[in-house]
Amino acid sequence: MSEFILEMEHIVKKFPGVLALNDVDFSLRRGEVHVLLGENGAGKSTLVKILCGAYSKDSGRILLNGREVDFPDTRSAQKAGIAVIYQEFNLFPHLSVAENLFAGRPFLKGGTSLIDWSRIFDEAEQALQRVGLEIDPHLSVHELTVAQQQLLEIAKALTLDAKIIIMDEPTSALTESEIETLFDRIRELKSQGVSIIYISHRMDEIKRIGDRATVLRDGARVATVELSETSDDQLVQYMIGRRLEEKFPRGSVTVGETLLDVRGLSTDNGLKDISFSLRRGEILGIFGLLGSGRTELARAIFGADESASGSILIGGNERTIRRPLDAIRCKVALLPEDRRRHGLLLPMCVMHNITLSSLNKVSRGFGLIDHASERKVSRSLCEKLTVRTPGMDTAVANLSGGNQQKVVLAKWLCSQAEVFIFDEPTRGIDVGAKVAIYELMDELTNQGAGILMISSELPEILGMSDRVLVMNRGRILKEFDKEEVSEGALMHYASAS
Ligand SMILES: Nc1ncnc2c1ncn2[C@@H]1O[C@H](COP(=O)(O)OP(=O)(O)OP(=O)(O)O)[C@@H](O)[C@H]1O
Ligand SMILES: [Mg+2]
Repeated sequence: MSEFILEMEHIVKKFPGVLALNDVDFSLRRGEVHVLLGENGAGKSTLVKILCGAYSKDSGRILLNGREVDFPDTRSAQKAGIAVIYQEFNLFPHLSVAENLFAGRPFLKGGTSLIDWSRIFDEAEQALQRVGLEIDPHLSVHELTVAQQQLLEIAKALTLDAKIIIMDEPTSALTESEIETLFDRIRELKSQGVSIIYISHRMDEIKRIGDRATVLRDGARVATVELSETSDDQLVQYMIGRRLEEKFPRGSVTVGETLLDVRGLSTDNGLKDISFSLRRGEILGIFGLLGSGRTELARAIFGADESASGSILIGGNERTIRRPLDAIRCKVALLPEDRRRHGLLLPMCVMHNITLSSLNKVSRGFGLIDHASERKVSRSLCEKLTVRTPGMDTAVANLSGGNQQKVVLAKWLCSQAEVFIFDEPTRGIDVGAKVAIYELMDELTNQGAGILMISSELPEILGMSDRVLVMNRGRILKEFDKEEVSEGALMHYASAS
């Protein structure tokens, strides 16, 4: 038996205007976690989509256990023991958790064609338990948070009894303790000889879970290395072709007047008496674990959830914000956590997605749109954020996951907001582009904007915030100044019960 369960050789894949994979070789050992690294748009998802039959390759060979295979669709790849957890969720939002887990594989009552529902729900409970997800399997998927959906995707892959599991950014919405649970599962799977292809932009976790890494850049393979023998700097250099000097470019700040004042905000979905203020020039970090109310807070200020009580003052005046349009009029912008669902019109082009919410900036009056300036504005934002796209007219659906995220960001940067609420601003963004986003945040605050930055990434909170609020079960439990905040202190208050 060969050392490799999988060998991909000379894989080529072209899309209109893009050579997504250029003669890529990739091999996977039995029982290894092989990390795929590379900038947004480098070709990682495309490579795994070819492996699992979602895309067809233009040329190259795939050997599974030494035998050449060619999967015309995902179902035949699944039958051969290849399971995928996609970067974009693949769940049916209006079906129950249990139905999603066993979609296409109904359990029938012995000898009949009746679906054995009690067995489905029993098995679902077990599958959920294995990933530490404590929810009722009868719930509809659209009622779940992003993190819960991600765990559900993982539970689903685990039920397939796969020999190769592909995880495309599985932890982007998970918090530390959930990541630990996932890693425990991965270690268990490894010991059973299952091989894992793991895609992630979080450098810290790559080292913790990966055995080897293959780095892609612009569709070509740059290197394959043993992770234990490779430094982070070296990996970053392979990925972006240069060294990364400054990770958190937060300059010194001059804070001005109060921009946003939240007083006694409570909501039906769990926020309890939240009060704080945000000043011009300030980045206020909001840290909290899953379920602490971070995202609910963002949505309440933005008017996205009904039934909030308390008051919100903007620029010193009390404002009624009942829906997002009210918020936008008050120059409040929200970069949502779940960007595919709340942030993008997928079939529309890059340019229109960016300028949609700020057409007044590019219009010539009388409702006419100045197409030349629309294009100019979008192009310059795309350059700043390093969005990789064949052009401004490309449909957003055709961009890589990380580049889609950047388009949502560009959209809000293009608006004339003064209060920016960024919910996980760098989720799914590559290391180089993260720095570009931090630079933009720094620039925005220098121009007098205020930023609420919700993040579960400790380095980002510590590196970019001027003050930090820690949320815990719907309340603000603690406030820290930049000078007094530390990783340990944040975790202490975030997980206090
Ligand atoms: N269906 C498609 N149609 C057209 N172009 C595509 C399609 N899918 C991917 N591409 C292009 O192929 C290139 C590689 O994309 P891919 O999704 O593989 O990147 P990635 O490495 O997974 O990036 P990310 O880290 O952002 O997820 C990108 O330039 C992307 O725009
Ligand atoms: Mg991808």
